[in-house]
Amino acid sequence: MAIRAFIFDLDGVLVDTAKYHFNAWQRLANSIGVDFTIEDNEKLKGLSREDSFDLILKWGNKSMPAEEKQEKMLLKNDWYLEMVKAMDASEILPGISAFMDEARAMGIKMALGSASRNAPLILEKTGLIQYFEAVIDGNQTTKSKPDPQVFLLGAKALGVNPQEAVVFEDSEAGIEAAITGGFKTVGIGIPENLPKAEILFTNLENITPKQIISKLTP
Ligand code: BG6
Ligand code: MG
Repeated sequence: MAIRAFIFDLDGVLVDTAKYHFNAWQRLANSIGVDFTIEDNEKLKGLSREDSFDLILKWGNKSMPAEEKQEKMLLKNDWYLEMVKAMDASEILPGISAFMDEARAMGIKMALGSASRNAPLILEKTGLIQYFEAVIDGNQTTKSKPDPQVFLLGAKALGVNPQEAVVFEDSEAGIEAAITGGFKTVGIGIPENLPKAEILFTNLENITPKQIISKLTP
């Protein structure tokens, strides 16, 4: 089946917000006496806010009432938004704008498939919103990656089958979700973190949609 659509994760693929999530989670974890390293952060990539915090509590052997958990997550999000507030197009990752311009010119349909409830704000602030026919994010999903729901909703909104769409992801949970959903996968990162991605790049600088399509088409 021909490739007709691209579905992009947001954090760590289109913009470098992964560093802001790390900063805010680390601040929150430390404030409740839990250590939090960059390696720990890697395991949270792609997971929802709730699943991330549950893991941090588990690693620190902590528990807390549901209401306090909500407060802490709101606090983390406030710190995160402080950093997001200052974002603009300069924070789009290398090569992304050229890649998406070319994909659009080729008539490839594009959707966002992100766990983040802050995705619409970030798309507006960076101007990336212009590229998307559909935006599926943490506000529309009930199951978080590695469940394929977010990508299946994206494919449905674009009117394509998973086999006709490529998912771009920087997280292991996201690659897992895409494989389970029957999508083709492009990993953004290093092989150690994304062993299951069909093809992998450190970023999309100097990579073209045609190259991706030819590598993924038998
Ligand atoms: C994902 C990030 O894109 O969104 C995760 O990789 C983050 O780190 C998740 O926890 C949820 O984001 P938000 O903005 O709704 O807290
Ligand atoms: Mg990501």
